[in-house]
Amino acid sequence: MNGRRLLHLLLMLLLLHRGSYGVEVLEFQKDGEANMETVAEYGGRLDRSWKLQSLTLCARFQIFHMHGRGTFFQLWDRPDNLTSQLRGELWLDRVRSVIAHRWKFQQIKEKFRAYRWYHLCFTYNHMSSGYKIYIDGDLNYKTTYEVDRPVYGDTIRLGQGEQLEHSFSGALSQVNVWDHPLSADTIAEMATCKIDLKGNYISWDAGWTLFNVTSYTVSLKQFCHWTAKTTYFWFPETSRELATYVCEALGSHLPLPTTMDEVHSWYNISSATWPDEPSLCRDNFWASIDDMKEEGYWVTHYDQSPVAVNTWKDNEPNGIFFENCAQIEPTGLADIDCVTNKRCSVCKFSQIAFFSLLGICESELQNVHFKVSQDYMGHLLFRGYGEYQIHKEGEEWVWFNVKTTQTVARLDPQSPLGMPMGRRTWHLETSVCGQMSGTRTLCLTSCPDQSYTCDDATCIPLDSRCDRKYDCQDNSDETNCQLVKKPNDYRKDLVPRVSHKNNNKSLPVALNITIKSINIDTTRMMMFVSYSLKMTWYDYRLMFLNLKLDDNLNVLSFEEMMSLWTPLVGFMNTKSSKLSVMDKETVLYLRRLQSHTHTDNSAPGEVTLYSGEENPLIISRVYFTDYICDFNLVLYPFDQQHCDMHLRIHSASKEYITIDETSTSAKYISSGLLLEYQVSQLTVHFDKSSKFSDVKVRIPLKRRVGYALTDIYIPSLVLLLISYLSLFFRQHIFEVRIMTTLTALLVMATLFSQVSSSLPKTSYFKMVDVWLLFCIVMSFLIIIFHVIIDLSIKDVTNPWSHPPSKVTKVIPLSDPGAFSPTPTLNTSIITKIYNFPTKGYVSMAQYGIFSILVLFNLMYWSYIFG
Ligand SMILES: *[C@@H]1O[C@H](CO)[C@@H](O)[C@H](O)[C@H]1NC(C)=O
Ligand SMILES: *[C@@H]1O[C@H](CO)[C@@H](O)[C@H](O)[C@H]1NC(C)=O
Ligand SMILES: *[C@@H]1O[C@H](CO)[C@@H](O)[C@H](O)[C@H]1NC(C)=O
Ligand SMILES: *[C@@H]1O[C@H](CO)[C@@H](O)[C@H](O)[C@H]1NC(C)=O
Ligand SMILES: *[C@@H]1O[C@H](CO)[C@@H](O)[C@H](O)[C@H]1NC(C)=O
Repeated sequence: MNGRRLLHLLLMLLLLHRGSYGVEVLEFQKDGEANMETVAEYGGRLDRSWKLQSLTLCARFQIFHMHGRGTFFQLWDRPDNLTSQLRGELWLDRVRSVIAHRWKFQQIKEKFRAYRWYHLCFTYNHMSSGYKIYIDGDLNYKTTYEVDRPVYGDTIRLGQGEQLEHSFSGALSQVNVWDHPLSADTIAEMATCKIDLKGNYISWDAGWTLFNVTSYTVSLKQFCHWTAKTTYFWFPETSRELATYVCEALGSHLPLPTTMDEVHSWYNISSATWPDEPSLCRDNFWASIDDMKEEGYWVTHYDQSPVAVNTWKDNEPNGIFFENCAQIEPTGLADIDCVTNKRCSVCKFSQIAFFSLLGICESELQNVHFKVSQDYMGHLLFRGYGEYQIHKEGEEWVWFNVKTTQTVARLDPQSPLGMPMGRRTWHLETSVCGQMSGTRTLCLTSCPDQSYTCDDATCIPLDSRCDRKYDCQDNSDETNCQLVKKPNDYRKDLVPRVSHKNNNKSLPVALNITIKSINIDTTRMMMFVSYSLKMTWYDYRLMFLNLKLDDNLNVLSFEEMMSLWTPLVGFMNTKSSKLSVMDKETVLYLRRLQSHTHTDNSAPGEVTLYSGEENPLIISRVYFTDYICDFNLVLYPFDQQHCDMHLRIHSASKEYITIDETSTSAKYISSGLLLEYQVSQLTVHFDKSSKFSDVKVRIPLKRRVGYALTDIYIPSLVLLLISYLSLFFRQHIFEVRIMTTLTALLVMATLFSQVSSSLPKTSYFKMVDVWLLFCIVMSFLIIIFHVIIDLSIKDVTNPWSHPPSKVTKVIPLSDPGAFSPTPTLNTSIITKIYNFPTKGYVSMAQYGIFSILVLFNLMYWSYIFG
């Protein structure tokens, strides 16, 4: 018991000791040469009968170079001839684990860079078939897939696959295998250097037999606080122009010491680096500031931000506007003339600068990526992760294939500043992107992801490209802002299909109609509409470049627009069947719905591609169109109408183009109250009866009766009442009665013709006609009654002559002794004579007319509102 305890304690101490004193790191192919002989073989014992169902494989690694792929781990079983029982393979943008001969690629979220430590774990859980990949402790990917076979073997090696291209060039450490899936927390703790867990199946500590592999130890913490050595690149005797370019192009800046200590340390660094060359880079370097724009206002040249310099030498700056640049001297800064001087420039790097060569159509990243180093002063060497290299041959920059020892291209000698960084013209010597010879623009850039490289190799955010304002100092970000990439066999006259796969389905086009104003001419039965018509469709043949989220930045030029297929819409119910037009007022733009699918590796720049299958084209134009309406005016002015805008896709028949019914919409955005009508909710109807795709936008119109009431109904009713009231006038003033009614009749007739002229001439009666005719007929009736009444008076008084004059005589009877001896009698007789027969007619007329009026109104209004 005690002995075992002691052993345990000793073991623990040993572990602790190892942990604090370091973890072994193995370095494979440090020079980057592919080599079949660099290998580390497992020193521990392997039990073939130990079959793993679930497992975890973890490793910490650094990549130096990338041949075809980096096979860093391989477990195989010799007796059963199973070479890929467990494997770990690396690329720059993906990883692959092989579990019992099941191969599974996985794309990683962030591309690997050389000379950086990464922690990678694959876990497989056979219970849930769950497969997970962790990079630096973060779950990068998970999926489920069946392996179904156990993993076992008797041989393990690091650093080699079957072929030369599969060998690993880099550093490895902490390669462990467990017979169970580790939890995410444990993996995160390992990745963040909190624990150094050893595998129970394969342990890093079991020891490795090394063949042409070097090893060293580092402390565990160092993996997570890895700082690359600060490096300096020196360029002697550079003009100020070259100095500002070269450091920016390498992803750094010219120095700007802010304290005297920094000035001294620059001097110390230079004298330490160049002890023997006092003349070149020992003393004076360019500083990153100048005051060219405004005297005495010192700004950094790269972002023009002002700096307060307190490290000037005594009596400096003293060159006023003759000396606008600054150099670092051993005792402080001094201003010097920018143009005539050549000084040393130095760029400081806190990590290794990485470059990409864009525009070479390479899909494998190791052939795109380069790391830059300086082997001697003033010189740069771009060493590819893969087979390429860019270096200077004499005075010429060449792009060179190390593997085939062929020169791929030479930099144009006229290139600005004679340097390859940035967008430059190259003369091809072998085929690149299918181009055999001639010149090709390529871009050598150190810009990080999501940025765009200006011609001078400085970086701007990717979204700032082609945003219609300059962001690059050389204004190169607003050139080549092409939006559409057409295939060579693109034909403008062919209707796009839905997709490559779905070749049989017709293309849906969505219409969006936004009506700005409506004006209706009821007499001519026309509707004048001003509206914007938008059509949305997808063209799978196209690729879009650099789409922005703001649609306004994705507007195609007129020429580009005219070179594409666009749908044609006919406006059917117009006088001459007009068509939609493509002119300078038409706008065609693209909408970014999906994020970019991939980047264009043939473009000399960071160009993101968006698929035309997922990002629509939208064409928009404002139209003013006269539509013909078909109104039914029977109920006028209490009618409800609708007028249709009948649109038809004219480009091709239904088999080729249909209307996307779910996305088609119409709306009216102005006030719903027109002069005569009230517009309610628009509806869209799809007509499937014809050979073409048709859509009708129905504009429901409810007539506003206010006008008709005030101008027709109330005046005519008043006139009718006046006519009617004339029945209550005294009977003997025939002229007055007849005149009143006649006048009312005339006015009503005028009203009638006026109303008729403001409406279309229909063969049927409109409600307003019925009303006015009724009024006229009633007035006419009243006149007839007046005549009858008048006649009846004349008939009764026939035996006497001029009865009305007698009546006039009756009145002064109150004055006794004036006229005839029997006035009282006379009067009563006359009254009797007058009243008796007429009273009947009068009240008949009064009641009769009144009841006709009431009856008619009841019927009329109940017909309208009933
Ligand atoms: C193992 O496989 C290789 C190729 O698949 C074959 O050439 C070799 O003969 C096999 N060896 C045994 C022992 O089966
Ligand atoms: C690798 O090591 C072996 C001896 O272990 C040696 O013979 C061989 O030359 C070495 N190869 C390289 C490329 O260094
Ligand atoms: C520069 O070097 C000198 C002598 O080697 C040393 O005394 C001084 O502290 C160094 N200065 C800085 C800032 O490193
Ligand atoms: C395509 O359409 C034609 C005729 O409409 C039909 O005969 C054919 O089967 C369809 N093909 C597919 C793949 O749907
Ligand atoms: C068209 O209308 C539909 C439905 O309202 C809407 O989803 C779509 O975004 C509109 N399209 C455009 C281009 O405005």
